[in-house]
Amino acid sequence: MPEIWSPSGWRNRPAKHIPVDYPDAVALTRVEDELRRLPPLVFAGEARQLRQRLAQVAHGKAFLLQGGDCAESFKEFHADNIRDTFRLLLQMAVVLTFAGGKPVVKVGRIAGQFAKPRSEPIETIDGVTLPSYRGDNINGQDFDPAVRTPDPERLLKAYAQSASTLNLLRAFAGGGYADLYNVHRWTLGFVEGSPQGARYRELADKISESLDFMSAIGLTPEKQPDLHQVEFYTSHEALLLGFEEAMTRVDSTSGDWYDTSAHMVWIGERTRQLDGAHIHFMQGVKNPIGVKCGPSLEADDLIRLIDTLNPTNEPGRLTLIGRFGSDKIAQRLPALMAATEREGRSVVWSIDPMHGNTLKATNGFKTRPFDRILAEVRSFIEIAGSEGAHPGGVHLEMTGQNVTECLGGARALSEAELSDRYHTHCDPRLNADQALELAFLVAEKLKDARRSETLRAAS
Ligand code: PEP
Ligand code: CO
Repeated sequence: MPEIWSPSGWRNRPAKHIPVDYPDAVALTRVEDELRRLPPLVFAGEARQLRQRLAQVAHGKAFLLQGGDCAESFKEFHADNIRDTFRLLLQMAVVLTFAGGKPVVKVGRIAGQFAKPRSEPIETIDGVTLPSYRGDNINGQDFDPAVRTPDPERLLKAYAQSASTLNLLRAFAGGGYADLYNVHRWTLGFVEGSPQGARYRELADKISESLDFMSAIGLTPEKQPDLHQVEFYTSHEALLLGFEEAMTRVDSTSGDWYDTSAHMVWIGERTRQLDGAHIHFMQGVKNPIGVKCGPSLEADDLIRLIDTLNPTNEPGRLTLIGRFGSDKIAQRLPALMAATEREGRSVVWSIDPMHGNTLKATNGFKTRPFDRILAEVRSFIEIAGSEGAHPGGVHLEMTGQNVTECLGGARALSEAELSDRYHTHCDPRLNADQALELAFLVAEKLKDARRSETLRAAS
């Protein structure tokens, strides 16, 4: 860590994927100053609490479920969308808690997940070239020169949207909507309607029996407020460092810097250069942080990254989010996991089975096959088992809406159906049924892994 770190120190480092084409630099600075004066979105104490929860994950005593939109948008901003994604995460968490026998730490890709790194900075259609769409907090999606020009006012709109999203999430989490009995009732509805329902019924019935038992002995939400509320955290990729800098404040309790734009922030696959701006920024904030680990990452580079971001080896500070692709994970992950185990670096290992499994359907839609997503999660759990690491979590792009963006699943969504409700502003997301189905299938696998772990410990 540099002698004196400051939230703006990243400005002297090479910064990738941050737009430099704001036509009015003064207006951008004015907006950033305004953001600096706006209230924090989260409180540092909450980020510290999440770090403790993630430390439990690092020790194999809890599981991380992180998910939400690839990119939130102004257009899809609606109470129903927030509610449905929140509900879906809770449903998945109940299934995973039951099968894994561990608490599930719930973290949304929500309330600030706007800015996107793009593979191409420009887009050409019919001979017209414009800047690429980079997320609603930077520019707009319509292929129009005015809309594609970065506009700083969008940062304020994104802040306001994040604040009201978080407000609703806090109300849902604490106000009774998250009642465990309710959440399970919704899942039973899914099981009834699923073509693969028979497969999920056994686990769902066991959860019902456990809840009946709990209620019989008096563990009801009326008597146990914990059954009536959940801890829910927010996260996004800390890509747009001008915004993150403006949201970074000294916590008066600890005297440490916290990025108050979300509880957890992560560094993307394209911005994890050791000497780059993003790593420099993340070094100084005390939030729990994530780093995406793709197929090009070598074990010694990973150890250098870990030591830069978590020099005191504090459990819960760092989550490594693998994203290799179902065809590459078996070649790439074992050496990385072996390195963190061998070198005794305390990390959460999580898997993002979305970003390495994107393909173009024959009709041109960017999509992801459910089978590949599932295969990458299964391989992750198996590899963790053989490397002696904990399969700590999953990181998903998903929505509570009934979209048609990823192929397959129990309803066998076909290429021809992709155009029906393809609403994403960036990458294809699992819809509600596909995501819950994935939770059931991952739960089966975690249960098997838990059984082998118990057997190993006993022998
Ligand atoms: C993302 O999570 O939306 C993303 C861009 O992922 P990655 O950095 O892994 O490509
Ligand atoms: Co994405």
